[in-house]
Amino acid sequence: MTKVKAAITAVNGYVPEDKLTNADLEKIVDTNDEWIRSRTGIEERRILKDPTRASSDLGAAAVKGLLEKSNTAPEDIDMVICATATPDHLFPSTANIISDKCGIKNAWSYDIMAACSGFLYALTTASQFIETGKYKKIIVVGADKMSSIVDYEDRTTCIIFGDGAGAVLLEPNEDGEGILDSVLKSDGSGRAFLHQKAGGSLNPASVQTVQNRDHFIFQEGRTVFKFAVSKMADVSAEIMQRNELSSEDVDWLVPHQANLRIIDATARRMNLDPSKVMINIQKYGNTTNGTIPLCLWEWENKLKKGNNLVLAAFGGGFTWGALYLKWAYDAK
Ligand code: UT7
Repeated sequence: MTKVKAAITAVNGYVPEDKLTNADLEKIVDTNDEWIRSRTGIEERRILKDPTRASSDLGAAAVKGLLEKSNTAPEDIDMVICATATPDHLFPSTANIISDKCGIKNAWSYDIMAACSGFLYALTTASQFIETGKYKKIIVVGADKMSSIVDYEDRTTCIIFGDGAGAVLLEPNEDGEGILDSVLKSDGSGRAFLHQKAGGSLNPASVQTVQNRDHFIFQEGRTVFKFAVSKMADVSAEIMQRNELSSEDVDWLVPHQANLRIIDATARRMNLDPSKVMINIQKYGNTTNGTIPLCLWEWENKLKKGNNLVLAAFGGGFTWGALYLKWAYDAK
């Protein structure tokens, strides 16, 4: 008997309407379109401008659409895991709030925080629950309102991030499709290079932390870049090797969208043809936990049952990882 695996059976994404282009950023900070395009590949990002709406609203929009398109009743969902670095509150969890906004009443819901690798951590966690046989329908949603922690006076970070969310439905599969393997890593000694200095128990909010602009993202870009390039490529090569996948066997690379140069380096290391790499960073920038599901959503119509996908990410923490899955359906 084939072992039960967790397969993605539906995917949906949501990005807010408002665009923040490179030309807009030229008016705010000392930067230019050519620099941003050549160093990152980004042309514009989406921003959730409404100050009364948060990550849970982005996530709930993605999840509502997911339930509709998969014809799933909210009451039938067993669990909701939200990967986010910009929770609505420190507590309760954003997953809890998304469930409430979507009428999901019979699930237990919680967040996973692994910065930009969170969606892969959450997918792997959810897949374990499905494999036990006890859980039949789990939603994994990556949602981030990055604009809520971006310093629009810091040209080294404000050009990178955007807002967005994506969600997938996981269900049991006994036909050999689904999440087949993952390699996940973390190294907390990298925390100094990418973090939010204040707002947690180490540096609770104070007049001082606000004056110091310590509630915004801090990144030492060059160091993070160096680690990201080597670690994301290493782990993608490792997952291919241990599953005996050649570059011909891999149909799609679904990379975290942090920087086009990091994506290119990973694809080169995997010896992949560029036509097999999902890239939408030019439209959305780095949406943190939204990047990977937003790619799956945009490419859904091109994906075929049985396709081999490698998902890969690197983020603050440091955290990084790669996941191998066999796609389970042809889009309608
Ligand atoms: O998703 C989570 C993980 N995060 C990442 O993977 C991000 C990794 N890092 C990066 O993507 C890149 O390091 C950045 C895009 C953040 C920066 O690109 P870089 O090629 O590493 O630039 P740099 O920091 O080495 O800066 C090069 C120069 C500097 O000027 P000097 O010192 O050479 O005179 C910067 O001050 O570019 C300058 N610079 C800018 N110039 C115009 C930095 N930001 C800008 C800007 N516009 N926005």
